[in-house]
Amino acid sequence: MKKVLIAYISRAGHTQQMADYIAEGVRMAGFEAELKTAAAIKTEKDIAGYDACIFGAPTYHRTMPPIMESFLFIAQKAGLNGKPGGAFGSYTHSGDAPLHIFDTMEHVFKMTMTSLGPFKLLEHLVDMQDGMRACQNYGRSVAQMLVD
Ligand SMILES: Cc1cc2nc3c(=O)[nH]c(=O)nc-3n(C[C@H](O)[C@H](O)[C@H](O)COP(=O)(O)O)c2cc1C
Repeated sequence: MKKVLIAYISRAGHTQQMADYIAEGVRMAGFEAELKTAAAIKTEKDIAGYDACIFGAPTYHRTMPPIMESFLFIAQKAGLNGKPGGAFGSYTHSGDAPLHIFDTMEHVFKMTMTSLGPFKLLEHLVDMQDGMRACQNYGRSVAQMLVD
């Protein structure tokens, strides 16, 4: 079965909750989803063997947390060229991180990114039913790019 990696960082838990719902969406589409924290990924081998990748980070100080930047340098060596991808994160007022991550995945890693674009979700919506559904839909949309 094709496998989707969801790698994320979360300080207060909202982006982690998004990651869980996105994984549900991937599974609803009939694919395997594996969740990893960006901090747990030490080398490009930890990103190998997945058919699609969805990366997530919250926005702090108008950017992504430094650990996510380090993670993206590791991901650069993972040969993700052409694989389906997406990027997400929770925020309160600007939500820059998912945009930057999506941009790097598209233009540096040359991944085939979801037409939905980067997915930023206001923090207070993460625990609402609409927020949950939006996350599930995002996961499903990336997974559906794996259908032959
Ligand atoms: C010190 C600090 C700085 C923040 N800076 C931003 C920001 O620049 N833009 C934004 O949209 N949200 C900002 N936020 C809000 C967080 O992005 C928001 O709380 C998010 O849901 C946290 O995600 P997490 O629970 O996954 O850590 C900031 C929060 C804190 C505590």
